[in-house]
Amino acid sequence: MSERLQVYRCTACGSMSAVLRGGAGTLACCGIPMTIHQDTQLETHLVGEVPPMEHNLTLSAKAIIRLLQTRVADHTSYFGIQTLKNPLDFWVYQELIWELKPDVIVEIGNAYGGSALALAHLLDRIGKGIVLAVDIQHDTFTGTARAHPRIQLITSDACAAIDTVRASIQEGDTVLIIEDSAHTYDNTINVLNAYAPLVSPGSYFIIEDSHCWHGLDYGPIPGAYEAIADFLANHPEFISDRARESFFLTFNPTGFLKRIP
Ligand SMILES: C[S@@+](CC[C@H](N)C(=O)[O-])C[C@H]1O[C@@H](n2cnc3c(N)ncnc32)[C@H](O)[C@@H]1O
Repeated sequence: MSERLQVYRCTACGSMSAVLRGGAGTLACCGIPMTIHQDTQLETHLVGEVPPMEHNLTLSAKAIIRLLQTRVADHTSYFGIQTLKNPLDFWVYQELIWELKPDVIVEIGNAYGGSALALAHLLDRIGKGIVLAVDIQHDTFTGTARAHPRIQLITSDACAAIDTVRASIQEGDTVLIIEDSAHTYDNTINVLNAYAPLVSPGSYFIIEDSHCWHGLDYGPIPGAYEAIADFLANHPEFISDRARESFFLTFNPTGFLKRIP
């Protein structure tokens, strides 16, 4: 009996076959039954398929990041709203929000509103705080997220919105910022330079998608990763807190920037 995406090998000639549809028969080659080939890397074929984990335990981190990326880009949702987040990273955001108990979360780049709604729901459980949702367009922002009382939309280019955002923050507020907009080098460094003074000491400026060309083989180059490096070289008040990458599989390598308390 074969299962979908199992890989079989012929012990006589070495040829290998991947199963596209499982069945009851016995796969054979050179007149003998083929054997299951464990831990085969299906990285170059079966694009878009998720191979069974237990038969693919030596997949490279690069292949796993690509699988995660495809899942996130294609069909990840929060409360039914499309959301472009690596759930492992979002779990870290949840941990940070519990630790920091922010008064203001600035989310730059909102798309469908799934991530803004998830942030607002976390603030609901903490019992305080607002999400300033900054995006150059909010046409795609769904009604459910739009209706949440903690979410305030600021429809503008991120850097052009800086005065509006600053005016929404009270002195002494704990401010957490998540940048998830264009991910180009220029936009990221401009957003970093404009918004960094708003991050409260001890809090974080999270820069997403620095995995482009540092895990994924596509995306802007130079991009967020290079912008973070250049920003840190000129801003000793921030450090890259790599302990926040302890799930290993992150879309934000070097991107959890902590403002030194
Ligand atoms: C990756 S999506 C955001 C995904 C969302 N945070 C989520 O997790 O589901 C990027 C968003 O950034 C917005 N964007 C792109 N360039 C921008 C800019 N310069 N200023 C503000 N928003 C921008 C786009 O309109 C788009 O909605």
